[in-house]
Amino acid sequence: MRKKIVAGNWKMNTLLKDGMELAQAVEKLTSEKSNQALVIIAPPFTHLSKVRELIDHVKLSAQNCASEASGAYTGEVSPEMLVSAGAEYVILGHSERRSYYKEENELLNKKVKLALSKRLKPIYCCGEVLEERESGRLFDVVRAQLEVGLKDLSEQEIDQVVIAYEPVWAIGTGVVASPDQAQEMHKFIRDLLGELFSKQVAEHMSILYGGSCKPSNAEELFANPDVDGGLIGGASLVAEDFMAIVNAF
Ligand code: 13P
Repeated sequence: MRKKIVAGNWKMNTLLKDGMELAQAVEKLTSEKSNQALVIIAPPFTHLSKVRELIDHVKLSAQNCASEASGAYTGEVSPEMLVSAGAEYVILGHSERRSYYKEENELLNKKVKLALSKRLKPIYCCGEVLEERESGRLFDVVRAQLEVGLKDLSEQEIDQVVIAYEPVWAIGTGVVASPDQAQEMHKFIRDLLGELFSKQVAEHMSILYGGSCKPSNAEELFANPDVDGGLIGGASLVAEDFMAIVNAF
């Protein structure tokens, strides 16, 4: 059985106090119910170690990490620092990092490998922009993101990775992918993993959907055979909404 996962990407939201309250609320709701899905939250860097003290049933993720292990890289945060603050996962390749900070597949491959070498599990994001979908290039774009971003990983390493498909046109827009659109791309990703790694890796991979996922649409998205959960932005900032998505399983 593949792991079902619902992860909340808080992005650059919440001050420390609000973030701590939100984490506490998510922890409480998670602990009260036996969930089908693993619950992960990804607060800003500044909140990680405080939030770690407040959670037990919920796993902790960072939203980014450096591509270098240590040294003179002002402003960067290394995977090892994140682990020392209590993080178990790191989101890499989010479309906002790709577009605003020009992070490309080669750099992301370096980050993925470094994170894995420090026992930090990447939640590796991929997805096309609207123009790429409309011109029919969506599968080529996602293929390159996975082929290059996950290049040269051993089977043991790829087994620690979670993939999130986030069509960029659906992020923060209120326009969610249809269940069929999500399933079509998730199946493509799973088949591609079979080609790049092995059938076993493909079968074992949790592939999350992200982009305007809400309590009202989570159930029909998660009902698809190749959709193993969600990476949630806006709705993860309200504990009840986030947990309603977790409970959609
Ligand atoms: P929204 O859920 O706000 O559309 O954001 C999705 C996302 O980017 C999660 O990483």
